[in-house]
Amino acid sequence: MSAPLAIILAAGLGTRMRSQLAKVLHPVAGRPMIHYPVLAAKAAGCARIVTVLGHQASEVKTALQGLPCQAVIQRTQLGTAHAVLQARRWFAGLRAPVVILNGDLPLLSDATIRRLLEAHRSQPATLSVASVRLPDPTGYGRLLRSAGGRVAAIVEEADATAAERGLTEVNGGLYVAEGRWLADALRKIRPDNAKREYYLTDLVKIAVAGGGVVQAVPVEVSEELLGVNSRADLARAETRLRERINARHLAAGVTMRHPATVFIDDEVVIGQDCLLYPMVQLEGRTTIGTGSTVHAGVRIRNSRLGKGVAVLDGCLIDESEVADGVVLGPFARLRPGARIGAQAKIGNFVEIKRSVIGADSKVNHLSYMGDATIGRGVNIGAGTITCNYDGVRKHATVIGDGVFVGSDVQFIAPVRIGRGAVIAAGSTVTRDVPAGALAISRVAQENKPGWAKKKFTVQKKRKKKR
Ligand code: UD1
Ligand code: CA
Repeated sequence: MSAPLAIILAAGLGTRMRSQLAKVLHPVAGRPMIHYPVLAAKAAGCARIVTVLGHQASEVKTALQGLPCQAVIQRTQLGTAHAVLQARRWFAGLRAPVVILNGDLPLLSDATIRRLLEAHRSQPATLSVASVRLPDPTGYGRLLRSAGGRVAAIVEEADATAAERGLTEVNGGLYVAEGRWLADALRKIRPDNAKREYYLTDLVKIAVAGGGVVQAVPVEVSEELLGVNSRADLARAETRLRERINARHLAAGVTMRHPATVFIDDEVVIGQDCLLYPMVQLEGRTTIGTGSTVHAGVRIRNSRLGKGVAVLDGCLIDESEVADGVVLGPFARLRPGARIGAQAKIGNFVEIKRSVIGADSKVNHLSYMGDATIGRGVNIGAGTITCNYDGVRKHATVIGDGVFVGSDVQFIAPVRIGRGAVIAAGSTVTRDVPAGALAISRVAQENKPGWAKKKFTVQKKRKKKR
């Protein structure tokens, strides 16, 4: 048997989602929904994967970049059979099995696709359909069986009689048939139904009429065939996927104090012996090195954290790099382009944007570092900020190794501070500072003895008179 071809149907708008966004683009655990069936088909050994796109085809194509699949376009959405026909050139002469699957099945596993392929081959059948029994079959096509128990047809909900609607054995939206047979059978489908659509499910009748065997292969884990049609379905899929993802990390040696409140996207990588507190969100392509701890209320997106990093409560880390042994927060914000060197400390209410903070440096309290390059072993005092924006352009601040910056300093960029310099607390730094120098720019203090006491006695007297 040559390797199977997969066709993934993803041209529909998904009207029941009530969204401007095509259904298959809705993210589930950090990936567009359409990624899941493509990855499952690949893992199941499908040699070629063809997606059928229509609504927002170019956006869906972009979302699929880098995944091992091709696309064909269905210009008007005339139904699932019509959608498969658009990929006809890929299977018309094919003596191999074709797996057809709906693009709205984010929970489907590669194991289930393999099992259906295996059942199709060993039967052997003309058409194999993955089926599932659902206590509430609303929205799904019902399997009709003949008196002898053979699968005779699939009837869509809109076309079903009241008695048929009571049937709980449903079509899961995953099928296998040989390419040549499929190309032929699809041409026989007519849109003679309530929705005037070309239903893929009519393949069953056609196979039976031609004397073929149709088998329904029950899927053990029924959730795998959850077709996402509505936002409620989307939420269910998301919940289940997150549980699976968390289980994967728990099994790999990550501790979660309360897994139900930890949200980890599918592509996140977490090292062994990491500890995740409640209410943590790890998003996109985030990587966390071994032995790191992430405390409560932290969100990390598309960032890379080294080993033994401690992220204290309430931090937001976006598109940033954090080296080994760094301590962040509580309540620190790393904006895109923040790069924090090993063992550095970024403390509470500190915001860092597009800046490099050298190893062993400290920015511990209430600071803003934007467009700055800070060397190693630098101390940035409380409340110090870079004034990097002149209203039109952004400017750089460069601070050499070992510089000591006192509290409440403003660096008016562009400005450079040489190695080992000291900046006095309260200074506004407008000019470059040579290495090893002291810069001090505050107004000399003057004390006026008795001034305050006098002022307040005068004021009190006036008040009494009024
Ligand atoms: C479909 C099945 C139903 C099954 C259910 C399983 C049909 C007629 N019905 O119903 O028996 O129980 O899936 O989840 O197939 N699509 C296109 N082009 C079209 C129409 C749809 O590409 O012209 C795509 C959609 O984007 C979607 C998939 O096909 O990914 C299924 O379409 P959907 O409208 O969700 O079908 P269901 O009503 O769920
Ligand atoms: Ca569906």
